[in-house]
Amino acid sequence: MNSNTDVLDIDEIHMDAQTIDEENRILKATVEDLQKELAKYQRMPYLVTHIVDIHKPEEAIIQLNSGKFYVSVAKHLEGDLKPDDEVLVDQKSLTVVRKIGKSKHFDVSRFVIMEKPKISWNAVGGLEDQIREVKEVIELPLTHPELFKKIGIEPPKGILLYGPPGTGKTLIAKAVAKNSNAAFIEIVGSELVQKFIGEGSKFVKSIFELAREKAPAIIFIDEIDSIAAKRIEVGTSGEREVQRTFMQLLAELDGFKPLGNIKIIGATNRLDILDPAIIRPGRLDRAIEVTLPDEKGMLEIFKIHTKNMKLADDVCLEEIVKNVKKASGADIRAICMEAGYFAIRSKKTEIKMEYFLEAIKKVKKEAKEKSTDYLNLYGR
Ligand SMILES: Nc1ncnc2c1ncn2[C@@H]1O[C@H](COP(=O)(O)OP(=O)(O)O)[C@@H](O)[C@H]1O
Ligand SMILES: [Mg+2]
Repeated sequence: MNSNTDVLDIDEIHMDAQTIDEENRILKATVEDLQKELAKYQRMPYLVTHIVDIHKPEEAIIQLNSGKFYVSVAKHLEGDLKPDDEVLVDQKSLTVVRKIGKSKHFDVSRFVIMEKPKISWNAVGGLEDQIREVKEVIELPLTHPELFKKIGIEPPKGILLYGPPGTGKTLIAKAVAKNSNAAFIEIVGSELVQKFIGEGSKFVKSIFELAREKAPAIIFIDEIDSIAAKRIEVGTSGEREVQRTFMQLLAELDGFKPLGNIKIIGATNRLDILDPAIIRPGRLDRAIEVTLPDEKGMLEIFKIHTKNMKLADDVCLEEIVKNVKKASGADIRAICMEAGYFAIRSKKTEIKMEYFLEAIKKVKKEAKEKSTDYLNLYGR
């Protein structure tokens, strides 16, 4: 063997060894990468949920569709979690493994009707006593809280308006909001129940937060009976959810001061099914009945709704009222509108008495057809 070749050989072997090492390293890295990638495919997905409550740093209550669970918290998250945080939990053990952010408070303003109402007291016919009471109990405390402080009385936090449909409950709520220069936040009980399954109580909480932000504010809860109905038994999970929403509403009502600049107005056609808890002292403890108008009231309402109509000379509103006998404000509005349509159909530019009489017949017939208990009760 020649020494030159010997040297060369050793070098070559060195080179080979290096190349092999290098290749080995690359292969190892590739295998590692592939293993990591493979692990991703094998891993069970995490569940996304939120923290309901924390009692100890190492344990949490979380909410899943199937219910609430008391679970462990991964070591690195201990002491770092708060209620409402959005988190990932392991599917098997339900251990909280990662925080993915503060739970975004869902934007309630998208789900409520919020406006500065334009309805003035002039637009409400009849109901003098009710209007006076609402002014005293809602408007005055909002506009002149100092008066109440001086005299040393606490006005109610809210009122309940009850009575047949279409009698002006919503109208009153809007008018009082306008006159108190308050933001008007309207929610409808039945929608709350349908739209926010599982989130009703959170929604109620956010509504009150929104009101505090926009204060002075009036929260108007229409159809309040759908969240505040007496329950004989709370059986299904849906009923439990409504119950929770109701509890949250009571908690919010109890939690704010009577002289603050937030007032609550509840409205219902069904006082009979309402849970008395809602009208206990310190809650909506002033119940105001909004009745069907008497003749004088009806006349006022007819005047309001015909104000911009072109009436023929033969139209006598007193006479029309006598023909109507019993109707809600909403019926009266419908009658006026129908009378207008009769004129249009007859290609007339004035509304004659006969159109009103036709309209009364039509509206009464329709009211009978879709008659509810309430309408029967009032003998229409
Ligand atoms: N007292 C009233 N005066 C004038 N219009 C009324 C009155 N009551 C009802 N209306 C008319 O009927 C419509 C519906 O009334 P609303 O206030 O929504 O009734 P409720 O909330 O009691 O069911 C109102 O927008 C208004 O046009
Ligand atoms: Mg209404």
